[in-house]
Amino acid sequence: MARLGVNVDHVATLREARRAKEPSPVIAAVLAEFAGADSIVVHLREDRRHIQERDVRLLRELLRTRLDLEMAATDEMIKIALDIKPDLVTLVPERRQELTTEGGLNLVLHQDELKKAIELLHEGEIPVSIFIDPDPIQIKGAQKAQADIVEIHTGRYVNSSGQNRETELHQVSEAAKLASKLGMRVNAGHGLDYSNVTAVSELPEIEELNIGHSIIARAAFVGIDQAVREMKSLIQPKTH
Ligand code: PXP
Repeated sequence: MARLGVNVDHVATLREARRAKEPSPVIAAVLAEFAGADSIVVHLREDRRHIQERDVRLLRELLRTRLDLEMAATDEMIKIALDIKPDLVTLVPERRQELTTEGGLNLVLHQDELKKAIELLHEGEIPVSIFIDPDPIQIKGAQKAQADIVEIHTGRYVNSSGQNRETELHQVSEAAKLASKLGMRVNAGHGLDYSNVTAVSELPEIEELNIGHSIIARAAFVGIDQAVREMKSLIQPKTH
């Protein structure tokens, strides 16, 4: 069965809206673990708009599962990662104006810089995942850059409907198969919610789904425990 990584950034978004002490993404993460989350994901952004460095350090100390640190491949972030040592670094593109991560990394344009970042993280014994669109050129680029894992961007799948949705799911599936054939492990995420997660979770190559917005949105009404348990119940056993 695919594992569930719960992204708690939005809890910090609420806290930072008031520059207050609560709600704490660290408490949300611990409660998500109690409810069955298999890992906790946080994105430390250059502008620190939600998660702060202190949150990442506290999570590193407190979590009983695994910590997946999403970050841009900058010198500053690599230094922080090498110091905090998360269980996984997921490299993502970052633009200051965006509301959330808008697309995957471009391994054609940024091959050398990403390869170098991965090398440095590997020297610190940190495995690296790369967030990319379901595109064979990007998958091959990820392998060339020595990524351990690819996280396939599910944005186009979740934003499509009807026949297009089938086509987009097929693209995700083909990308997952290619990555696995090239020796990389496969995660997926972005925009997954209670209505669209099951089809992706049925793809046999996908090991972990990283989900934030929909879980935290539901948690605002039913609590994080129920929100995580409901999401877990929709993730299906692999079909092979
Ligand atoms: N995976 C990556 C790499 C992301 O950047 C995000 C958004 O922070 C997610 C997964 C989770 O996306 P969502 O909040 O839409 O579930």
